[in-house]
Amino acid sequence: MYTSTPQDKPWTVPMLADAKRDGRKLVMLTAYDASFARTFDSAGTDLILVGDSLGMVVQGHDSTLPVTVADTVYHVACVARGLSKALLVADLPFQSDATPERALDAATALLQAGAAMVKLEGAGHKLDVIRFLVEREIPVCAHLGLTPQSVLRLGGYKVQGRDDATAGKLRADARAVAEAGAALLVLECVPTGLAQTITAELPIPTIGIGAGPHCDGQVLVQHDLLGVNSGHRRPKFVKDFLAEAGTIAGAVTAYASAVREGRFPDAAHSYD
Ligand code: KIV
Repeated sequence: MYTSTPQDKPWTVPMLADAKRDGRKLVMLTAYDASFARTFDSAGTDLILVGDSLGMVVQGHDSTLPVTVADTVYHVACVARGLSKALLVADLPFQSDATPERALDAATALLQAGAAMVKLEGAGHKLDVIRFLVEREIPVCAHLGLTPQSVLRLGGYKVQGRDDATAGKLRADARAVAEAGAALLVLECVPTGLAQTITAELPIPTIGIGAGPHCDGQVLVQHDLLGVNSGHRRPKFVKDFLAEAGTIAGAVTAYASAVREGRFPDAAHSYD
């Protein structure tokens, strides 16, 4: 059984590896403003992500593609003012990481606004970007599986890695992003068994979203945790914790305990 106790000191990037080594599950939520960030932080959330999901749940777009670096910097600065312990991760928006130099400019702006780590989607040519950023003292979180910035190529938001070939590619990409220097890996919409294998193979923590219960941590989008209708289809892995808890702080505490105790996600919120 896992511990259900949140950490009492501010998170740093090296502590993520310590958590994996010690078998402590990481609890992550997205946030986009100072007040929700403060509520999530004081309810014991370990990591806050200013995701480019903000394009869909805050700005009302159909995808994350319209989000800009300026949009993200604005929300990172708002969220940073609400945090005292959680580690702040910020998404590099669509094509802001197309080259190492562009990624360095965008990541520098995000760190100067208050982020401690940037997240980017994919492997392939992004491996050079990861290496370039890490060599320049910018901590990186990778993101594999369903990568929403690839929605046009993928033709929709679909589970990834269901056959042997794509599962093998995902495993190889996961090893490659860790070798390139990523300190954390988000796995989105990946079958439970594949996410479990990747988690066991990697030295860095994995954070699942629709990737089953065996990842080293979990992330949910704020609006999904709170049952807010963002105008988009609700995927299978989403759970409205506010419905049972009754208060926002209670919903976060219930989510955090369920993650730390290995009760969320269950089979009903995961893919085979
Ligand atoms: O943009 C976002 O919120 C994300 C999470 C869904 C992991 O990337």
